[in-house]
Amino acid sequence: MLELKDLYFTVPDNNNGNAGKRNIIDGINFTFEKGKFYAITGPNGSGKTSLAKLIMGINPISQGRIIFEGRDISTLSITDRSKSGIAYSFQQPARFKGITFRDLLSIATGITDEKKLLEIVLRVGICPLSFLDKEIDAKLSGGEIKKIELATTIAANPKLAIYDEPDTGIDLWTIGPMVNLLKKELAEHSTTTLVVSHNRVFLEAADIILIVDKGRLVYTGDLKNSLPLLENLSVCTYHSSCEGEKDAGCLR
Ligand SMILES: Nc1ncnc2c1ncn2[C@@H]1O[C@H](COP(=O)(O)OP(=O)(O)OP(=O)(O)O)[C@@H](O)[C@H]1O
Ligand SMILES: [Mg+2]
Repeated sequence: MLELKDLYFTVPDNNNGNAGKRNIIDGINFTFEKGKFYAITGPNGSGKTSLAKLIMGINPISQGRIIFEGRDISTLSITDRSKSGIAYSFQQPARFKGITFRDLLSIATGITDEKKLLEIVLRVGICPLSFLDKEIDAKLSGGEIKKIELATTIAANPKLAIYDEPDTGIDLWTIGPMVNLLKKELAEHSTTTLVVSHNRVFLEAADIILIVDKGRLVYTGDLKNSLPLLENLSVCTYHSSCEGEKDAGCLR
């Protein structure tokens, strides 16, 4: 449903000998299938967010093409990609003084009816109803704004949902329900789901893991076979069993 064809994102860089250019995304080819759950992981600064932003049209493509449901969307604006069914949750969501979660949901869905808005909040589950009247401003906690961002993406009923590190700042007890929610949305609406994450819980939930390193796609496949590479890249130390481990990176 989504094809990345020889994709590059190149920026000016005068700090290396490479003709003043740096490939942040360096020739990525991959086809995402409809209704599958993908986790994109890799070291900090490897290009995960840049790749996600290329798909949404936030970053301009330097070279290559993106095909979504058979249509070349490479030159489409963010708005047109959004209209075609792609939704995006930012790693660091924007804050707007004077705009409430209710306003944001109404903009994302076109729904203003109170009962229907409440239904969306209930469907998302991870946001209390009281969030509806919260302002999306600087007073919102890091975790609260991530929940609101995720809820707004789900409420748009996208065909392809992209979440950039949805668990950042989220309390430990919400991460499980968040994964279940994304899985439920996938099962009920066949939402193709791309989650950028370092979190083992999301990696375990994924059908397919993609590892990005230095702008290149260096692994696609299941979690088990990705572990040696992940350990090698020092993303974090992942072990099938953490029993007896003293390593601070060992996630349980
Ligand atoms: N528009 C840009 N211009 C120049 N450099 C950029 C631009 N966007 C990203 N970069 C650089 O590209 C690299 C990859 O950034 P990106 O945000 O994609 O990393 P990431 O894999 O998402 O990292 P993290 O795990 O820390 O979120 C970084 O070194 C970043 O500074
Ligand atoms: Mg990132």
